Amino acid sequence: MADHTVTSEVVFRIRRFDPTTDADPHWEDYRVPWPPGMTVLEGLKQIKESLSPTLAWRSSCRMGVCGSCGMFINGRPRLACNTQVSELESSLITVAPLPNFNIIRDLVPDLIPMFKAHTETQPYIIRDDTNEQRQPTGEYWQSAHQLEQYLQFSYCIKCGCCMAACPTCATDPVYAGPMPLAQAHRYNSDSRDGGFAARKQVLSGERGPWRCHFAGECSRVCPKGVDPARAIQLMKRQLVFDYLKLGKQKCPASIAKVPDGMKRREGIPEAPPRTI
Ligand code: SF4
Ligand code: SF4
Ligand code: FES
Repeated sequence: MADHTVTSEVVFRIRRFDPTTDADPHWEDYRVPWPPGMTVLEGLKQIKESLSPTLAWRSSCRMGVCGSCGMFINGRPRLACNTQVSELESSLITVAPLPNFNIIRDLVPDLIPMFKAHTETQPYIIRDDTNEQRQPTGEYWQSAHQLEQYLQFSYCIKCGCCMAACPTCATDPVYAGPMPLAQAHRYNSDSRDGGFAARKQVLSGERGPWRCHFAGECSRVCPKGVDPARAIQLMKRQLVFDYLKLGKQKCPASIAKVPDGMKRREGIPEAPPRTI
């Protein structure tokens, strides 16, 4: 491994795409100084300031909180601000936009489909006691055990890394994806919530958890330690129990039909070559 106590150099191989001038995305290399402790996001800022002012990406907080800097870095979805160049153990860093999303420009994915699916699942606490909600007379008490049922899922920062790693998202445009489903389960498993019946309209439909193959890639790449694959399997169990309670005979998974003409989504560039 390189000695990172001294400044050396690193090459960023970046997927560039300007929809106003380029027919297809292409790769460009940039050589930048590599001071100890440099993150991938800091490398991108160096490139923008001194080599290519048109380079585009999203970032804000620089501390793994806002979820805006998800990128495909050395063959894996990661947060650029939370990834040290040294941890990649290579002097060649490939940076591409998150797979499984259409590309707006350079490293900027179009996250609207993900947030649309998120919105459809009503990701907020729904209660029957609307008067109490408007004019609360006390706290909504919750035990430590009840908190544990949803706490880890609430750490999600909506970065989309799980969606980019999910093999079902890569091939099945109907599937809502791990982030929206895990967040639906976050609220379904909150003892203060009574919205399962409302969310069930979407969750038991075509876009719901029955399309998940439980490959677990979503949980492997999550930078916040959330386990969306677990949330989705728990959601399946909740839906099955609900079906049994209602006396339905048909397996709820039977609604997940193979969509017509299923193939890799169009307009999504091939993944870059692995460098590690
Ligand atoms: S579950 Fe993890 S990877 Fe997926 S959007 Fe949330 S924080 Fe990002
Ligand atoms: S467990 Fe489900 S949601 Fe997660 S990567 Fe696999 S198919 Fe996608
Ligand atoms: S800039 Fe906010 S998570 Fe990376």
